[in-house]
Amino acid sequence: MISKSAPIGVFDSGVGGLTVAREIMRQLPNEKVVYFGDTARVPYGNKSKETVTRYSRQIVRFLLSQGVKTIVIACNTASAYALDEIEKEVDIPVIGVVKPGAAVAVQATSNGKIGVIATEGTIGSKIYSRYINEIDPLASVVGKACPLFVPLVEEGLWQDPVTDEIAKRYLTELIDIGIDTLILGCTHYPLIRSTLGRIMGEGVTLVNPAYETARELKELLEREDLLNSEEAKLGDNKYRFFVSDAAEKFKGFANSIIKYGILSAKTIKIEEY
Ligand code: DGL
Repeated sequence: MISKSAPIGVFDSGVGGLTVAREIMRQLPNEKVVYFGDTARVPYGNKSKETVTRYSRQIVRFLLSQGVKTIVIACNTASAYALDEIEKEVDIPVIGVVKPGAAVAVQATSNGKIGVIATEGTIGSKIYSRYINEIDPLASVVGKACPLFVPLVEEGLWQDPVTDEIAKRYLTELIDIGIDTLILGCTHYPLIRSTLGRIMGEGVTLVNPAYETARELKELLEREDLLNSEEAKLGDNKYRFFVSDAAEKFKGFANSIIKYGILSAKTIKIEEY
């Protein structure tokens, strides 16, 4: 039987999934979290489906070894490529970030023109159009791969003229098409949200799937009777962070994204899982 006090496992290719972990911590303050960032193998966005699925399986095995009660794939690329298979392979609930993001975008748009910015993998999979058109067959979805955003974010260039310039190049065609809603379809992108918002202008709603993902997670835990009824105390191993490389650099980032004071990030050999 799954214990209610077990942690939630969250993973991403690097620091991006921390934007989802932060939202989970905010909406589900009683829950413990085990986070894994695959910092040795980031980015996932330009890798094949087979590779991303193999990496995701290793991470899922690691998270299961930590006794998690549910897994959140806090990476759009891994959600697009590996969620369906992983869901079938494990016997605890698994959720991704794409479906929740698609649902919010459909609610947010007035003119039915939705833009998606994401990695090459996520855009190539057409997963956002699939989910959006399942809800609203008339919505038009325009995807734009932005492969330079992840390295810019991982380098910490969140507010930088270089990021501005690259964002303008990527976003111009979406502005010209007249989208009124833009999905930040990569969990790294909320970290450059202010740049993206400034370039898109006030008339465009930016959708960050993290909020909706945490809300769906809450519903899922309620439905499965898995909500932690006791408050887990900070310091009591409440939030634990693991990476595959460069733990100190990760810790610095994590502390600027999550305001709970991350005490440590531990490096593990993920290929051994
Ligand atoms: N943050 C991830 C995503 O949401 C992956 C980015 C990458 O590693 O390329 O797609």
